[in-house]
Amino acid sequence: MKKYIFVLSLAIVFGLNSLFASLRTDEGMWLPMFVERLNWTDIQKMGLQLTIDELYSINHSSLKDAVVGLAEGSAPNGFFCTGEIVSDKGLLFTNHHCAYDVIQRHSSIQHDYLTDGFWAMNAEDEIPNPGLTASFLVRMEDVTEQVLSELDDEMTIEKRAAKIREITSPIKEKASEDGKYDAVVKSFYDGSEYYLFVYQTFKDVRLVGAPPSSIGKFGGDTDNWMWPRHTGDFAILRVYSAPDGSPADYSKDNVPLKPKHHLPVSIKGYEKDDYAMIWGFPGNTERYLTSYGIDFAINQKNPAIIDVFGTMLDVMKTQMDADPAIRIELASDHAGIANVWKYFIGQTRGLKRLDVKSKKEEIEKDFINWYKKNDETNEKYGNVLQNLQAAYQQMEGTITPFYLIAIGSSNIECLNLSMQTVVMEEMLEKKKENKAQIELTIDALKETSEEFYSDYNISMDRDMLSSMLSLFKKRLSLNQLPDIFATINAKFNGDINSYVDYVFKNSIFTDKDRYNKFLSNPKVKTLKKDPINELSSSFNKIIASYQANLAEGQQNVSLNMRKFIAGLREMNPSVKYYPDANSSMRFTYGTIKDYYPADAVHYDYITHAKGILEKEDPTNEEFIVSPKLKELIKKGDFGIYGKDGDLVINFLSTNDITGGNSGSPVINGKGELIGIAFDGNWEAMSGDIAFENELQRTISVDIRYVLFVIDKYAGAKHLIDELTLVK
Ligand code: ARG
Repeated sequence: MKKYIFVLSLAIVFGLNSLFASLRTDEGMWLPMFVERLNWTDIQKMGLQLTIDELYSINHSSLKDAVVGLAEGSAPNGFFCTGEIVSDKGLLFTNHHCAYDVIQRHSSIQHDYLTDGFWAMNAEDEIPNPGLTASFLVRMEDVTEQVLSELDDEMTIEKRAAKIREITSPIKEKASEDGKYDAVVKSFYDGSEYYLFVYQTFKDVRLVGAPPSSIGKFGGDTDNWMWPRHTGDFAILRVYSAPDGSPADYSKDNVPLKPKHHLPVSIKGYEKDDYAMIWGFPGNTERYLTSYGIDFAINQKNPAIIDVFGTMLDVMKTQMDADPAIRIELASDHAGIANVWKYFIGQTRGLKRLDVKSKKEEIEKDFINWYKKNDETNEKYGNVLQNLQAAYQQMEGTITPFYLIAIGSSNIECLNLSMQTVVMEEMLEKKKENKAQIELTIDALKETSEEFYSDYNISMDRDMLSSMLSLFKKRLSLNQLPDIFATINAKFNGDINSYVDYVFKNSIFTDKDRYNKFLSNPKVKTLKKDPINELSSSFNKIIASYQANLAEGQQNVSLNMRKFIAGLREMNPSVKYYPDANSSMRFTYGTIKDYYPADAVHYDYITHAKGILEKEDPTNEEFIVSPKLKELIKKGDFGIYGKDGDLVINFLSTNDITGGNSGSPVINGKGELIGIAFDGNWEAMSGDIAFENELQRTISVDIRYVLFVIDKYAGAKHLIDELTLVK
């Protein structure tokens, strides 16, 4: 009886909502360093059998040592995907869509690994990937006190950022131990806490195996972000080290990495409600976004992204369909853009259908009621929400640049080339500049021009420019548009196509001979009156006119978000608020679970091999099933990976993940690999802003399907032999 009263009074003090929230949900991307702060009894009841020390330890090997962040380049500020070590020879599993770029780079019409898959049957066949890195977390450390001790609220954002750099750079320097490690300091809770992360980064990561896209990307963009799913979204890499075990650039003398830990692989399967945890590097969430931020996303940001990306995809698809070489060349860019495009469509839909704004307004109401009760909190937080509202309002009128800046990100190549002449233009203008300097610059430009025109796709460039200009014209009013549109109206009768024709016929950048002729006798005047330069300066001018408001708005959002989150944490001290994802290692625990996507509709938690055949459509490239896979499925030839004559393909769990977690290990209560996470589900696409307990699921590929493809489909049994199988 006493206990009951105690709980009740706590609930009153801290707010009922929040107490229940911390009891009921699988929400949360937790920092491994703080696993011991979680409700350990609960987690054990759910099925975790490992000790805290076996999960995360900096003194001896632990589970975290089998989890790597994948990046392009060596300084791991962020990771595009996650991978897990599965053998004592540095073998690494990740997603097919994570290795897609790498697979594409090695593909040609003769060796089309995207279409046909790739399998290294011995060590010599494994393909190096200069630039690709795999980072292991050595340790992390709370450096909040050091950083905050020299910051105050009166500082401007720039001053604050400079101070943070000044304080953190010796911290990182020291932690790097003379270049042995890469160290980064990251901000948490929008700048309330700071943590140091120390990584060991390996630079020789080779491609070992990838299924054909008909397995690895089965269902394509149609099934992407959706359940039920039947995708073998996995690829295999291997981490190499110098003979002494340290990181080294690619060399034939390198040897397979001897990892501190590798995950055993369980082919015993799982049941509904079984414990499952995921370790990895989630990139970005906005779980504390306010109702004002949601309005901004729904009405301003998302529509612009969807518009611009949709336009880019159309242009690219036309080119890809027309030419097989271009299909391969653009495959990775296209897949990446399509993924983000569909994400934002889903996010807007989710935000509206799940009325996330009202949920946020509830939180804001509680917040206001709380801070008003007390002078001190009133003083501290009294204008935070108002400031946030004002900051978003300030940015509202600046939606134009969201469109216009897209012209840069849409990769119109002749615009990029023209950018390269900016420095020379400045030199030529200041006549005094020394001649040798100019000569050097010209030589450099000549060199890049050779490379540029060797694979310049002029037809796509033309199409992209005219599609983008048409989009802007459709969506923006004349006073929001750059003044080049006035020229288009006056001189080309408003006809964008004839304007673009004129640009391409006359610019020095759209023709190799014209460009080289210019370089042999460069004149400022030529640059000044070039139609591409005219176009880009017209864009730059209008973007600059919005810049101040946009920057100030963003700064005010960031400043006040820090206070808002700090306020929430002060308001509910008993609630464990996890920090937003920021590409640092996190762990999420939950269970294997089905869901109800809509009224009267139930989705089971696993899919089966027969579902692949149900979806087969030889006329649609997204749903082709290879004859070999089909035969294996029809025969029920699943080997040790099947169960009761069937094979599980994908499964669902309640774990809280986001982009960057792709490729992450799904691990059972014994620390064994049961799957590789690769997606989220359509009904909860607003999940990066508000976790949906009833609806939100992680979609993973069952490890038994992965092994079946390696073994039965590809005949790469030697890779299976490397694993530590739990049968
Ligand atoms: N939606 C997944 C993610 O962002 C990527 C899935 C890739 N598959 C595809 N069909 N494009 O992690």
